[in-house]
Amino acid sequence: MRVQFINIVLVAVRIVNAVDPLVDLTYTKYQGLTLQNGVNQWLALRYAAPPTGSRRFAAPQPPLTQNSTQDATKEGALCVSANNPEGLQYGSARQPMAEDCLFLAVYSPLNATEDSKLPIMFFIQGGGFTSDSNGNFNGIGLVEASGMNMMVVRINYRVGMLGFIGGSVVNADTKGAVPNNGLNDMIAAARWVKQYATKFGGDPNHIVMSGDSAGANAIDILLTANNGAGFPDLFVGAAAESTGWGGDPYAVDRDAEFAKNVNSTGCSNSPDPLDCMRLMPIDEFQNKTTSDGWGPTIDWKLLMAPHYEMMEQGKFQKIPVIYGSTNEGTPDFISNQSATTDADIEKHIRDAVGPAITDAQVQSMLIAYPASLNNVSFFGRDVSVKNETLRKGKGPQWQRDAAIMTELKLQCVAAFFSDMFAASGMAQNYQYRYNVLDTTPGGLADQGIFTPHTSELYAIWGRNNTDGNDPKCFKIDSANGGCASAISIVQSYWISFVRTLDPNTFRLAGTPTWEAWTIESPRRIVFNNANASIETMGAGVGEVVIAGMNQRQRCNTLTLPLAKVANAGLKAGETLQPFANGTRADPTLGDASLNVTAASSKMSNLTGTASSPKFTGAASSSGLWMNEFLALSIAAIVSALLLM
Ligand SMILES: *[C@@H]1O[C@H](CO)[C@@H](O)[C@H](O)[C@H]1NC(C)=O
Ligand SMILES: *[C@@H]1O[C@H](CO)[C@@H](O)[C@H](O)[C@H]1NC(C)=O
Ligand SMILES: *[C@@H]1O[C@H](CO)[C@@H](O)[C@H](O)[C@H]1NC(C)=O
Ligand SMILES: *[C@@H]1O[C@H](CO)[C@@H](O)[C@H](O)[C@H]1NC(C)=O
Ligand SMILES: *[C@@H]1O[C@H](CO)[C@@H](O)[C@H](O)[C@H]1NC(C)=O
Ligand SMILES: *[C@@H]1O[C@H](CO)[C@@H](O)[C@H](O)[C@H]1NC(C)=O
Ligand SMILES: *[C@@H]1O[C@H](CO)[C@@H](O)[C@H](O)[C@H]1NC(C)=O
Ligand SMILES: *[C@@H]1O[C@H](CO)[C@@H](O)[C@H](O)[C@H]1NC(C)=O
Ligand SMILES: *[C@@H]1O[C@H](CO)[C@@H](O)[C@H](O)[C@H]1NC(C)=O
Ligand SMILES: *[C@@H]1O[C@H](CO)[C@@H](O)[C@H](O)[C@H]1NC(C)=O
Ligand SMILES: *[C@@H]1O[C@H](CO)[C@@H](O)[C@H](O)[C@H]1NC(C)=O
Ligand SMILES: *[C@@H]1O[C@H](CO)[C@@H](O)[C@H](O)[C@H]1NC(C)=O
Repeated sequence: MRVQFINIVLVAVRIVNAVDPLVDLTYTKYQGLTLQNGVNQWLALRYAAPPTGSRRFAAPQPPLTQNSTQDATKEGALCVSANNPEGLQYGSARQPMAEDCLFLAVYSPLNATEDSKLPIMFFIQGGGFTSDSNGNFNGIGLVEASGMNMMVVRINYRVGMLGFIGGSVVNADTKGAVPNNGLNDMIAAARWVKQYATKFGGDPNHIVMSGDSAGANAIDILLTANNGAGFPDLFVGAAAESTGWGGDPYAVDRDAEFAKNVNSTGCSNSPDPLDCMRLMPIDEFQNKTTSDGWGPTIDWKLLMAPHYEMMEQGKFQKIPVIYGSTNEGTPDFISNQSATTDADIEKHIRDAVGPAITDAQVQSMLIAYPASLNNVSFFGRDVSVKNETLRKGKGPQWQRDAAIMTELKLQCVAAFFSDMFAASGMAQNYQYRYNVLDTTPGGLADQGIFTPHTSELYAIWGRNNTDGNDPKCFKIDSANGGCASAISIVQSYWISFVRTLDPNTFRLAGTPTWEAWTIESPRRIVFNNANASIETMGAGVGEVVIAGMNQRQRCNTLTLPLAKVANAGLKAGETLQPFANGTRADPTLGDASLNVTAASSKMSNLTGTASSPKFTGAASSSGLWMNEFLALSIAAIVSALLLM
């Protein structure tokens, strides 16, 4: 009798804690969907109040109470993109957008319980801070590939002027406008996950960020936030995919752009131009505002300084990290597909670095990245576009331009972050080079596009999960000239990292140990179509030494210092601030030809105080939720008794 009683209690406890597709979050209930493959999915969960009306330009507020059960089986809208020509206009049929867009999606195993404490991958999509461009990726593939042992969350966040308005007028606003709302949204979403994770089977104390492009740039900033403390209460690890950086401007640097938009919206004569823009219908607002340059602004809270400076001073949250990027040959939003002459190459370098670049540095760049790169890449790959039909309209210097921009904006930057984590003593510090090439007829390689920006996402998320964009080679076995194996290889390392903060624990059988990166031995993994291998940066697989430099030397002595100039937004005649720490030789400050001795007055502002985030999330669980599940569990006890 006594034994039976204990059994009943155990059954009851287990049923009480089962995750149900109908989840009660106290501020509302969401009806999700159980899919046939054993994954539960909830789409369009609100993590904040609609950022509309008086909340436009304001920090995210707690989600509103909605008494009726909400349908979480359909996607919510993506955030309205900046007015741009990429087919991501307001009203886009492929990716519906609305200002009411602060949604996230959750994927977790059907067999999860509230006690499962599943590790969580928290995905921050990219889009240059001007669009939510990885709209509605599907987390099912990752949950399945994990053997039903992890939870995936992906979030929308505000972009363009709606997410990143900035300038002196914004700082002076008394009606709630603040800069960096796109970042504030990410933090609000992470706090939501922390608060509600158990309801989906997740572990609130094991949130691992994963983000690509601008999403990875956001990760870098969040790690340096709060004067370098980051968010230790929220994040335990991070995978920054295809990260780069733009400039990190100060509020005053945004004043001209702000004024331009006040004018273009017709709000110049309004007594409160910000209010005038706040109340404008959203489609009119998008039409009349510009696409250019909106992104994070130094606010002395989230962004304390150009973040390369924070990193060099060791002011960042030290957690296990993956950094890396794709190989080379990027579409035209990074490279100039029309580049024809040396002058085009030079102009692009000058535009990308900014006015502080010297003539000598420009000449060094043209020598370090010679015209031969139009034919053979740094890694010995033939990069010429062979098919004349596909070549049509492409400038003969496109590939050289792509090689420069890939290192300047991505690869040297990713290596820098790995160096800074190594310098901080972080041993779980992993770097990759994604080298998967779509060689199918008429595919990306035929078009002269070699492993484009963020293409590692296709492997991380898996077939059919990335908004219909996966390259053709993913449909074909690696043994037959495709690249399908890249998915299981890459996915296993990522899942392993999310679960254990070590990519090796659950890596695919037969794949190599992903060695940690150190400054002395910058080891990284290379992902190929059919395998993975380990190489040292500077002695890469197939690497060709060009102009007397390998990639490591080129990055450290020439390209990365220029990337830092861009991040610091230096003006003509200004030079980089040195951050000699005394504890190590900074490998990135090696070139005597670059003047890194001048001081920057901006340094005096690095002592700003950490702020408490504005968003605190909704109230904790109410009794209502327990009552409903108690009713369920009583029924279960009855059926358990009948079975005995
Ligand atoms: C939801 O229900 C509560 C309590 O019954 C009530 O006070 C509140 O007004 C309702 N909210 C809405 C939006 O209907
Ligand atoms: C779900 O079941 C699978 C297969 O039995 C198991 O490996 C996995 O750990 C389970 N997941 C959870 C959250 O219990
Ligand atoms: C302001 O906008 C008008 C058109 O609305 C344009 O003609 C003018 O050049 C703009 N002025 C500035 C300073 O941008
Ligand atoms: C926005 O611009 C498009 C095309 O330029 C135009 O068709 C549409 O009417 C405009 N919408 C508003 C609200 O101004
Ligand atoms: C820089 O020095 C400080 C102590 O002054 C130390 O805490 C920090 O980790 C160092 N950073 C690096 C990158 O070595
Ligand atoms: C790209 O190259 C074209 C063609 O020569 C040139 O006109 C244009 O200014 C270049 N664009 C950039 C952004 O450098
Ligand atoms: C390099 O590529 C260009 C086209 O971009 C072609 O005209 C030229 O012949 C190639 N040179 C070599 C040596 O293959
Ligand atoms: C070049 O590409 C076009 C478009 O994909 C294709 O139709 C054509 O067959 C290709 N030509 C060769 C020689 O491969
Ligand atoms: C992907 O979608 C295609 C077309 O709908 C289907 O044939 C294929 O089986 C799917 N593959 C996977 C792995 O889901
Ligand atoms: C791995 O793949 C690359 C290219 O996809 C190939 O060149 C290399 O031989 C392969 N290595 C092994 C050990 O199979
Ligand atoms: C570097 O900059 C400092 C300060 O502006 C200047 O005094 C010095 O002469 C410069 N050194 C070189 C080598 O240009
Ligand atoms: C430093 O920050 C304060 C605001 O805290 C600002 O007024 C000042 O202009 C900043 N100084 C520099 C050099 O950016």
